[in-house]
Amino acid sequence: MSNNNRKILVTSALPYANGAIHLGHMLEHIQTDIWVRFQKQRGHTCTYVCADDAHGTPIMLKADQLGITPQALIDQSSAEHQRDFKAFMIGFDNYYTTHSDENRDFSAMIYTKLRDAGHIAEKIITQAYDPEKEMFLSDRFVKGDCPKCAAKDQYGDNCESCGATYNPMELKNAYSAISGAKPIEKDSKHYFFKLGNFENFLRDWVENHVQTEMKNKLNEWFEAGLQNWDISRDAPYWGFEIPDAPGKYFYVWLDAPVGYMASFKNWCDRHAVDFDEYWNKDSKTELYHFIGKDIAYFHSLFWPAMLEGAGLRKPNGVFCHGFVTVDGKKMSKTRGTFIMAETYLNHLQPEYLRYYFAAKLSSGIDDIDFNFEDFRLRVNADLVNKVINIASRCAGFIHKKFAGQLSASLSEPALYQEAIDKSDLIAHYYENREYNKAMREIMAIADAANQYIDSAEPWVLAKKEGCEQAVQDCCSMGINLFRVICSYLAPVLPKIAEDVQAFLNLDDFAWDSIQSPLLSHKINKFKPLMQRVDEEKVSAIIAETKLKLAEQAALTSQAETQKTELQLEPIADTIEFADFAKIDLRVVQIINAEHVKGANKLLQLTLDLGGESRKVFAGIKSAYQPEDLIGKHTVMVANLATRTMKFGDSEGMVLAAGPGGEEIWILEPHSGAKPGMRVK
Ligand code: 2FM
Ligand code: ZN
Repeated sequence: MSNNNRKILVTSALPYANGAIHLGHMLEHIQTDIWVRFQKQRGHTCTYVCADDAHGTPIMLKADQLGITPQALIDQSSAEHQRDFKAFMIGFDNYYTTHSDENRDFSAMIYTKLRDAGHIAEKIITQAYDPEKEMFLSDRFVKGDCPKCAAKDQYGDNCESCGATYNPMELKNAYSAISGAKPIEKDSKHYFFKLGNFENFLRDWVENHVQTEMKNKLNEWFEAGLQNWDISRDAPYWGFEIPDAPGKYFYVWLDAPVGYMASFKNWCDRHAVDFDEYWNKDSKTELYHFIGKDIAYFHSLFWPAMLEGAGLRKPNGVFCHGFVTVDGKKMSKTRGTFIMAETYLNHLQPEYLRYYFAAKLSSGIDDIDFNFEDFRLRVNADLVNKVINIASRCAGFIHKKFAGQLSASLSEPALYQEAIDKSDLIAHYYENREYNKAMREIMAIADAANQYIDSAEPWVLAKKEGCEQAVQDCCSMGINLFRVICSYLAPVLPKIAEDVQAFLNLDDFAWDSIQSPLLSHKINKFKPLMQRVDEEKVSAIIAETKLKLAEQAALTSQAETQKTELQLEPIADTIEFADFAKIDLRVVQIINAEHVKGANKLLQLTLDLGGESRKVFAGIKSAYQPEDLIGKHTVMVANLATRTMKFGDSEGMVLAAGPGGEEIWILEPHSGAKPGMRVK
């Protein structure tokens, strides 16, 4: 049975407003949404808020690059994010933005309290500065040659080639990644949050509020010593100006978690809910943050310390999850496995993914692997073959033979009792975010239900004389078990739950309603609830992902080229159509690919043009292993004059796009395109 009514506020991490929602976001939002729906189903007052994380340099620069205002960019992102979340049935009570009046006020209030209590330090620091753009450059915006191994184009803090760490001004031939200008050193006053003042509080708090694996990680940070945290940035910066510090702005990570409060406040004001009841120091309400393990430092150290310093309540729990991997590897743009929510939705129902994640999610921080074959088999086996099958086996008889009326008693009360006896255990698993265990229990009930129907054989009984009652009883039993299963699955499958509710003619799926079976109850006609996951649809997601990434890369590289060209030389002249028409583009298949002795960037490809073969050198070694290329189709310029290079002749050119390094993609035509076909 449910506890007394709890008042719970729940958040998912706020997505940045400069990127699309991908499977990584979806894991977290699905995990949170299931938890929230479960709490609501149990009858608790549970409010789920989120927002776009709208501030910071990358958003400012992206808007600049697109030639729009940051406000226009964040408005556009917010609309896209909300569209994707809605399609996945993420039931936020409020989705807001950190660029709001509420957030400005709360951030200023918290900062002022921290400052007045002596938790803010001021210090002059020296930083790289772009004299052309007139802005300070964080480490990632300074590039140059590694001071240790001389590798080119390394970021300002560490070398990806030799692993050396350094300060950006130590780079040789340093340049600003924004304007290309040579950075100078410049002093500026910064504001720091004195995290060390909260060490005792944090050690205590961490002990009781984070998962064990995270505790170990946080202990390492305690051992390393809590450093002062730089919370200010100089103009130009897209964010909130710090009170009494003109030209200084809050670093995005200062106002981001405050955005949780701001989103909730915005909702409270529209629903006449008492905000202070939730946020006062001694609040009896509960607050939980669902986050990825990469941002634990912010949520388990800075954020509780900020709240403590400002005299506000602290979270009851910070729930970290692992990352999504695809086929065992980190989602990668290069491998074409960086799957966007929108791409998935173009081909498949959202509930398949919700179930798949639920079946894999535990309360730990292990990564969750998305394997397409496993996904398809799992969803088909569990949802379609087991769960939905129960209803499709029983509903027809009830509808046709008994006008939709269920029997007046249960034929197997013990079996029903067994199913509802699992209620507390399944609730315990949901509550503790052990969804994988909950799904296992639910599927075991579905197995038992199917076994029962298998042995009762209503389709055989239906053909026998005098077995009418037995058919009705057996199918009513099946339908009752189906109802219990769907009630347990409702947090995971909201749309199916809604359809089942209509089919079974139910008022709701309140957690305890299954305690009374449906007897002499009229149900409606059964409509198919879910299709099998089709192999082709899955392949279509992979293909669309690769195509989108290639398009994106082409756009990025075009934008980057234009930027460089604008600064260095005039944009190239346009060409006439007749010149363009001279280029003979052909679909080819890569029949061999190998390393070229002595070449750093080149691979030698042997291409089949549909009978004729060509050998070309392609500068794609940094992005592909030869064995990954063999068999792929791509596009080549077939009438390029043969070029004699140091390593031999190159008989044409393959087309690829991307900014460089690992991020180069050969263009891959649709699988229907055959070698030799002309590209039009
Ligand atoms: O890592 C991120 O994507 C951040 N935008 C999360 C912010 S969560 C909260 F603190 F705002
Ligand atoms: Zn190096």
